[in-house]
Amino acid sequence: MKTILLFLSLAIILPLSALATCATTDTPTNQVWLGVLDTNGKPLNASNRYWIRPAYTTMDIGGVRLANLDDQQQTTTCPTSVVLSNLPKDDGIAVYFTPKNPNKYQLILASSPLNIHFYFDYPLCSNFAVWKVDNLVSKWPPILHTISTGAKLGNPNDFSSWFQIKPLGRNYKLVFCLESTTYCRDIGFVRQNGYRRLVLSEKPMPFVFKLDDRIGMASCYA
Ligand SMILES: *[C@@H]1O[C@H](CO)[C@@H](O)[C@H](O)[C@H]1NC(C)=O
Repeated sequence: MKTILLFLSLAIILPLSALATCATTDTPTNQVWLGVLDTNGKPLNASNRYWIRPAYTTMDIGGVRLANLDDQQQTTTCPTSVVLSNLPKDDGIAVYFTPKNPNKYQLILASSPLNIHFYFDYPLCSNFAVWKVDNLVSKWPPILHTISTGAKLGNPNDFSSWFQIKPLGRNYKLVFCLESTTYCRDIGFVRQNGYRRLVLSEKPMPFVFKLDDRIGMASCYA
């Protein structure tokens, strides 16, 4: 009798635990594997370029681009400060999203780490394409954690260069999370030198992603 009971309970427990194992294998980090959609409702694809645009168009803001802001210690003539365009019709400079952990469908998933890098159609500033967060070591509040370019693409050790896209209502926000910590901050902007400059912020900026389907051309920047 005891043997039968044992057998029965094993028969019930084993398939259940097998199921549980499968479930955890599919979602290793307990994340929701949510695709990010562009303004046409199509999934974001790592092999495509997108303009990052404000979700709500006002009279004086357009897409994300670069500017040369005075307070930066410029080691280059390339603009490195990530800002919003002051022209609503300007889509900005298109970017690629490159996931840290690519999948075979090249899908860009919400809440998973990725590099964001500008696409330039000439090589002059190609070392200043990959986004990073500045001043991360300094925790003192008055220091702005500005977003600039100059990181290396696909460098797992550069913790300042991994961003995430997260849903924000029907739109999206950009988020920066420090790996293996609970530190996560939204990306918003501050006004600086006539620009709205992207920074880590309490107030996330709602964005949408518009496919740049032009072939071999990028917008030039001022
Ligand atoms: C992404 O683009 C590549 C190359 O064009 C294509 O092979 C792949 O199917 C696309 N993935 C999705 C999810 O649309």
